[in-house]
Amino acid sequence: MAQHRPFRWPQPLEGQEARIWYGGDYNPDQWPEEVWDDDIRLMTKAGVNLVSVGIFSWAKIEPREGVFDFDWLDRIIDKLGKAGIAVDLASATASPPMWLTQAHPEVLWQDYRGDVCQPGARQHWRPTSPVFREYALKLCRAMAEHYKDNPYVVAWHVSNEYGCHNRFDYSEDAERAFQDWCKERYGTIDAVNDAWGTAFWAQHMNDFSEIVPPRFIGDGNFMNPGKLLDWKRFSSDALKAFYIAERDLLEELTPGRPLTTNFMVSAGGTGMNYDDWGTEVDFVSNDHYFTPGEAHLDEMAYSASLTDGIARKNPWFLMENSTGAVNWRPINYRKEPGQLVRDALVHLSMGADAICYFQWRQSKAGAEKFHTAMVPHAGEDSQDFRDVCELGGDLQRLADEGLLGTKLAKSRVAVVFDYESEWATEHTATPTQQVRHWTEPLAWFRALADQGVTADVVPVRSDWDSYEAVVLPSLYILDEETTRRVRDYVAKGGKLFVTYYTGLSDEKDHIWLGGYPGSIRDVVGVRIEEFAPMGNDFEGTLDHLELTNGTVAHDFADVITSVADSARVLETYKSDPWVGMNGVPAITVNEYGDGKAAYVGCRLGRDGLAKSLPELLDAMGIDVAAPAGAGDVLRVERANETGDVTFEFLFNRTHRAVTVPADGETIVASLAQANGDGTVTIDPNGVAIVKR
Ligand code: GAL
Repeated sequence: MAQHRPFRWPQPLEGQEARIWYGGDYNPDQWPEEVWDDDIRLMTKAGVNLVSVGIFSWAKIEPREGVFDFDWLDRIIDKLGKAGIAVDLASATASPPMWLTQAHPEVLWQDYRGDVCQPGARQHWRPTSPVFREYALKLCRAMAEHYKDNPYVVAWHVSNEYGCHNRFDYSEDAERAFQDWCKERYGTIDAVNDAWGTAFWAQHMNDFSEIVPPRFIGDGNFMNPGKLLDWKRFSSDALKAFYIAERDLLEELTPGRPLTTNFMVSAGGTGMNYDDWGTEVDFVSNDHYFTPGEAHLDEMAYSASLTDGIARKNPWFLMENSTGAVNWRPINYRKEPGQLVRDALVHLSMGADAICYFQWRQSKAGAEKFHTAMVPHAGEDSQDFRDVCELGGDLQRLADEGLLGTKLAKSRVAVVFDYESEWATEHTATPTQQVRHWTEPLAWFRALADQGVTADVVPVRSDWDSYEAVVLPSLYILDEETTRRVRDYVAKGGKLFVTYYTGLSDEKDHIWLGGYPGSIRDVVGVRIEEFAPMGNDFEGTLDHLELTNGTVAHDFADVITSVADSARVLETYKSDPWVGMNGVPAITVNEYGDGKAAYVGCRLGRDGLAKSLPELLDAMGIDVAAPAGAGDVLRVERANETGDVTFEFLFNRTHRAVTVPADGETIVASLAQANGDGTVTIDPNGVAIVKR
């Protein structure tokens, strides 16, 4: 497994104690200096102790080529530091100034049709441009040299959300870099031909120079899937290489100061391979924006858990989230009362030791003026700012009670997530475009939560095999190494849940032959010859299948054609005979070595899974003893090393008040109250934190 950089965390300012970091992106350059003193006053009032500065300040720091103006930045950093507010300083390279792109239009990225991304927003640079790299590194050097001894700068915030707007660049620079990347990965052009299956459709290449990015091929055509998968890997790596260049220079000039860059881990956010990036930061930081509607809490908990998995249970930074509405969706829903505090505590419960927002003060101009902030347009006299102050108090109390030093306690169940499986299943020439990897882990996380089990969401390259039970949810790619781990895990007594669309391909996206799921057929004890996708884009097609347990499958089912002697069929499909699915096994459990492997051969969704789980868990010998109503709250536990101090976070998952057992002293309650009889009552959007 990949080697991680040693964990390093921003240290408190001199004379201060370690606290939970609290603050946000701060853009003083958008405001006249008179506002700065008011900012500091309000930050102090809210308990803010860290801000990220300079993220989009390149044009102000280097107003003309080679001319640097640090005066304003020095003044604000000094004011902050003297007020006891630490600075997470940006490399400031995220958005190049106008003078640069005017002088060097060759740094602008190109889309797949060759259109050039023009300045006018941000991140309009190409990751593989040697010219852009030179300018960005010059800025990094200037920043590092100027701030190397600044006592108030506690961390580097390298660039910002790499790949948010420039994930794919199809320029000539990218073409050259892609060729080099292929050389490095495959060694010979024959190996590339093999990986991409170029015997198909006359795509054979004689030389690395014949490798081109997956540019426009005509609407309705299908790009070579192996190439497209490698293009996504390459694009993540190209940005990572850029980050590493910035990081290494900053580190060389300011050794000892921890570095990070903010990821965008969320259930459907799969631009970069963040598990791979996680090996390259001193501490993981994540930007998370809530999903409006019924999945809000669960999706957030899921994403925070995955972030904790990427951080390998080291503390991590919530670098950005919103106090309320964002401004970049077609409809920007507000947060309900209580959600500002609750949402922050969800991330905290899942191992974050820092809670930060985009942004400190809501802009009055520019593209993000309608994005909420810690200080909203309405100013200090506002519910949002009062909530921000309340949260600051909660974080202070939690630190006083000893929360720092505890980590997210390990769950019994791991739900495995894999960036590359997502990338492969995004291809459009698949059995159905209704099925992609990422939705299934979220459905399992939610269905398990409905049983009172808060699972750990973990990357495929982490130690999932150390859990009592493991879910492989539509884990489309199983390479040889993962196959071996799956086999060993079950053979040694592990309890494995495998779903449809798992293990269809290897890492080259070549199908494992002989019946699906090719590489672990014997482990799961089923053999699938065909798929039965479902939909209603034509009249009279199969659009659902009912199971014998009363649940209903949509979108996808496997046609399981045989079941091993060691396997037991728990559920089958009931359907009109003409569909050919009547009696076909839907859910099975196999004995393999000392362990068991369940197979769920269709998409049941969160509800269908939740209904099927009690029987399935029982058949797998997993005792969760979920009392009625166990799914009403999400229980998340942080514990210290020895396990003798624990903090249990209880979040209401329903839209009504719930009263639930809570063992310990309630130290923080938001829309919740301890009843003095070993129970707490939690209102919708409420949370109680209990210490034992
Ligand atoms: C992030 C970005 C921030 C801000 C925020 C708004 O993607 O890093 O600068 O734009 O979104 O939600």
